[in-house]
Amino acid sequence: MIILDGKKVSNDIKEEIAAEVLKIKANGERVPHLAAILVGTDGASMTYVNAKVKACEKIGFNSTLIDLPEETSEAVLLEKIHELNTDDAIDGFIVQLPLPKHIDEQKVLMAVNADKDVDGFHPTNVGKMALDLPSFLPATPYGILELLERYNVETSGKNVVVMGRSHIVGRPMSILMSQKRKAGDATVTVVHSRTKDLAEITKQADIIVAAIGISEFLKGDMVKDGVVIIDVGITRVPDETKERGYRLAGDVDFDSVSPKASYITPVPGGVGPMTIAMLLKNTLQAREIHG
Ligand code: GUN
Repeated sequence: MIILDGKKVSNDIKEEIAAEVLKIKANGERVPHLAAILVGTDGASMTYVNAKVKACEKIGFNSTLIDLPEETSEAVLLEKIHELNTDDAIDGFIVQLPLPKHIDEQKVLMAVNADKDVDGFHPTNVGKMALDLPSFLPATPYGILELLERYNVETSGKNVVVMGRSHIVGRPMSILMSQKRKAGDATVTVVHSRTKDLAEITKQADIIVAAIGISEFLKGDMVKDGVVIIDVGITRVPDETKERGYRLAGDVDFDSVSPKASYITPVPGGVGPMTIAMLLKNTLQAREIHG
């Protein structure tokens, strides 16, 4: 069993990007600038956004964190987005999800200028992705492709089961892995909460991408020997033995699944760090687009 070490690979990618930043600086040009909007005080979202900003600092990007209170109106948020859309110093920005219930997420994502949409969530970018045109790929699926590629995991002709149909992970993942591309050319099945005989389907899978958000859902008796496991889940599970009162669990029951797996991502240290690295890669791409 080989661990797909997202922490190591993401550090390699960050070093590659940092080298590009040095070149930009040496040419006397402006370094990439990423902004992030966070609405509210959700613990996990604050952790993720802070990690994104810290990663920017580490590789030499400029970053701006716009921290808005939970009760921020949709109109005020849209105004902030408009400011970032029209600010030439900002190459790309993200609105951290989930948003508070009183804000229409789709309306917000559609307000982001597609050329600055480094999360790849705008319908223009989703459409381009589906049509195999150049676009910003959503960071988590992009990170998974990169991880599979860098470990030379064969995907061509393989049975891939994507668990979950979210707009952020499951849906784009299923599209990307079915395409003619590196870490693609797979036969993809999407399973979800209404799927019947789920275990019968997962047992046929050569590669499983678990992105359903239910901790330790996928057990050893639901997979075949030699399976490749990509665990996207990251849930806080109460744990009194830990000082912070919780532990982080994936969607995969690591103890029962890993003995059967040929490759597996750990949680934490698997997909999570890759997501951040690919967001930075998209921001570098945005900087190149804006010239
Ligand atoms: N919430 C969970 N994942 C993501 C992500 O990749 N981007 C944003 N903006 N919010 C998220």
